[in-house]
Amino acid sequence: MGDIYPIDLRSDTITKPTATMRKAMAEAEVGDDVFGEDPTVIRLQEKVAELLGKEAALYVTSGTMANQVCLAAQTKPGDEVLLDENAHILNYEGGAPALLSGLQLRPLAGDFGRLSATLVGNSFHAGDSHFAPTTLVAVENTHNRGGGTVYELNALQEIYDVAHNKNANVHMDGARLWNAAVALNTREAEIAKHGDTVSVCFSKGLGAPVGSAVAGSKDFIRRAHRFRKVFGGGMRQAGIIAAGALYAVNHHRERLAEDHAKAAELADLLLQSSDLKIEGPMQSNILIVTIVKQSVNSATLVERCKKDGVLFFPFGERKFRLVTHLDVSAAAMRPAAQTIVKNLLN
Ligand SMILES: Cc1ncc(COP(=O)(O)O)c(C=O)c1O
Repeated sequence: MGDIYPIDLRSDTITKPTATMRKAMAEAEVGDDVFGEDPTVIRLQEKVAELLGKEAALYVTSGTMANQVCLAAQTKPGDEVLLDENAHILNYEGGAPALLSGLQLRPLAGDFGRLSATLVGNSFHAGDSHFAPTTLVAVENTHNRGGGTVYELNALQEIYDVAHNKNANVHMDGARLWNAAVALNTREAEIAKHGDTVSVCFSKGLGAPVGSAVAGSKDFIRRAHRFRKVFGGGMRQAGIIAAGALYAVNHHRERLAEDHAKAAELADLLLQSSDLKIEGPMQSNILIVTIVKQSVNSATLVERCKKDGVLFFPFGERKFRLVTHLDVSAAAMRPAAQTIVKNLLN
């Protein structure tokens, strides 16, 4: 195997900090962030608030904590949250909304993860004691299980308007909002303005080792600060890791276009095989691929490819997911596609 192996397409979370990012981390000025005294964390939070066009932001440990802090800070136990049936909040956060905030989640059938104003508007519960009051709508942008799909800005605006007309807020799980901004060639704030609260991750496409942030009004951040502490996420000299995040925000946003180009190239190569179909519109760095003809299932395909040094995850019986990122090169796309196609055959 050459030096491009292993070709690791499991997730954009697997990236390792670059040498210059590590240097920034080693040299970070730090303080006690629970006391609000870490200058690097403060700089990161100010930068994120500015990029997202919000009054304030708060550094948190993970995307999961970011989402959960946002849910807790703008609902009451017994409330209902509308979200797509494939949302990360529903599928991959360990039941946290029920466990931590006493929330009922109502999954809706979106379009590759994307909700519409009509779907949201028709799904509201309110005004009858049979129903849990719907007080929050959660959108995910880009949508992970949807195949990296990106919301159009007008669709987000319509959802925001419908929710607010019903006195509900909108939370945006923007773990990959940076990718959405690159895909739409727009500023992050243009997307984030359609969420009352927004979460973003530094440890996915941006390539930082740890952390996420939430952003919104100052009042929301005050409440989020309390829930971060309650959920065990108050960190002390967090400037060490925040420096990696700050470096990533300053230097790795524009290069996400390269990850999207790699995914598009990989899709083109895979589609040369009539045995494969790509789900959805392919807008960013995530591909959900279906095995349409060959009898091999995705778990077997994953195992065979792993032996050849190409790594990815199964995503159901006949589907698998491929994710491009900072630590996989453009030159790896052709051998990755060849390995996958070869291993389809028994
Ligand atoms: C859309 C989305 N939201 C939230 C998260 C949670 O992030 P973390 O793994 O940092 O908790 C992920 C993780 O992959 C994600 O894809």
